[in-house]
Amino acid sequence: MKLIISTIVLLAAIYIGYKFMFRKPSKLPELDLQKWWGAGVRTEGQDDSIRPFKIDFNDSMIADLRQRLKNRRRFTKPLEGTQAQYGMNTDYLETILNYWANDYNFKERAELLNAFPHFKTKIQGLDLHFIHVKPKVDDNKKVLPLLMLHGWPSSSKEFAKVIPILTAPKRGYDIVFEVIAVDLPGYGYSEGTNKKGLNPVQMAIIMRNLMFRIGFTKFYIQGGDWGSQVATHMATLFPENILGYHCNMPVSSRPISYVKLLIGSLFPRLTDPVAHSRVYPLKKYFSYIMRESGYFHIQATKPDTVGVGLTDSPSGLAAYLMEKMAMCSNSEQLDKPHGGLANLDLNDVLDTVTIMWANECVVTATRLYAESFFYPEINILQDIPTEVPMAALKFLYEVVYQPDWIIRDKFPNLVRSTVIDYGGHFAALHTPKEFADDIFAAAEAFIEFHKKEK
Ligand SMILES: *[C@@H]1O[C@H](CO)[C@@H](O)[C@H](O)[C@H]1NC(C)=O
Repeated sequence: MKLIISTIVLLAAIYIGYKFMFRKPSKLPELDLQKWWGAGVRTEGQDDSIRPFKIDFNDSMIADLRQRLKNRRRFTKPLEGTQAQYGMNTDYLETILNYWANDYNFKERAELLNAFPHFKTKIQGLDLHFIHVKPKVDDNKKVLPLLMLHGWPSSSKEFAKVIPILTAPKRGYDIVFEVIAVDLPGYGYSEGTNKKGLNPVQMAIIMRNLMFRIGFTKFYIQGGDWGSQVATHMATLFPENILGYHCNMPVSSRPISYVKLLIGSLFPRLTDPVAHSRVYPLKKYFSYIMRESGYFHIQATKPDTVGVGLTDSPSGLAAYLMEKMAMCSNSEQLDKPHGGLANLDLNDVLDTVTIMWANECVVTATRLYAESFFYPEINILQDIPTEVPMAALKFLYEVVYQPDWIIRDKFPNLVRSTVIDYGGHFAALHTPKEFADDIFAAAEAFIEFHKKEK
């Protein structure tokens, strides 16, 4: 019986695979590279200056936040004998909220971030915030511009631990990075839009224009989570500008890749051994996805509704953001009160929550999920391979895992692939050294690749 089912599934997979492979390749869609996302319509004489900026957790924001945390209502106790299986453990949450209100040092945390030079500039009508760190100059080193892109529910803050490593000379390397870490539109200190359709493709255009504004027409990109979607579209749309792409959530979303995922499940020997612990059996993987993706569905469909409570209650916002930060750092700790959160530095986690709270940007951030489906340009672009050299970094608890033979559907020039048997989704917070080391090694591989191309 099993054999018959396998055969049918295989034949179906091959048929679908052929259909996808031999249909006409899609052409890049026509896209407006200067689309206006600001309020109203574009007017003459737009400000294109780059202004210095400082993070400020000011006294009135802190006093108001503490007041709200103190006046919170009683939380429902976790069920007897459960920890984080039903979501955020409220006993654990209380200890975190008490720490946030009483011990988290707002001023010190802001000052830590202000050790980096911050800037804002307006691109296509949106005021965008970014960190821009030039390396300590050493004439012998080649300086590589690197744009770093975060995801949900993060901001450029996520890279605070890796920027100092990337911008300092490293033994054994004659390269060093000039880092631009940006808050995506609607995240952190970057302005959100009031117009429909700001999806990852449109963000890719905005990010390219930002790099042009800063003065780079050829640069490297790094991304995970939504940042990796944006980066992937940048590599597809602007291969002439992107010298290499380092990704800690490497995915090919081409239809053929899903077929191959299925084939790998039926013929285990076709795929790599790591896949067998990380995505196979698919039944186990899908039940994990079902268990953890409720937030995704609600954000993709009703972001404004869930956003009301999250904008109004710091306890609610903290619980909502931390539950996912926890699980994505280690998906096997729901039987612990912290649910996985203890893998991260609590101050880092609270920085993320505080930045989201202070900027009241949870709705503009969640809307990215709602904007990321139903636009044909996304599907078309996802199915077009890119020649840009790519390096994949795969930590153990990353939420998706693809073997290299699938990643190559989208990135035929996969020049490097690193599998690490620990760590998780928020790699720059969780394992900054491994993360930064891999970017150095990847950049060398990109340079090698371009040498060979010539
Ligand atoms: C303090 O910060 C909040 C949130 O970032 C902001 O809305 C408010 O205008 C600031 N207040 C002052 C007095 O700067």
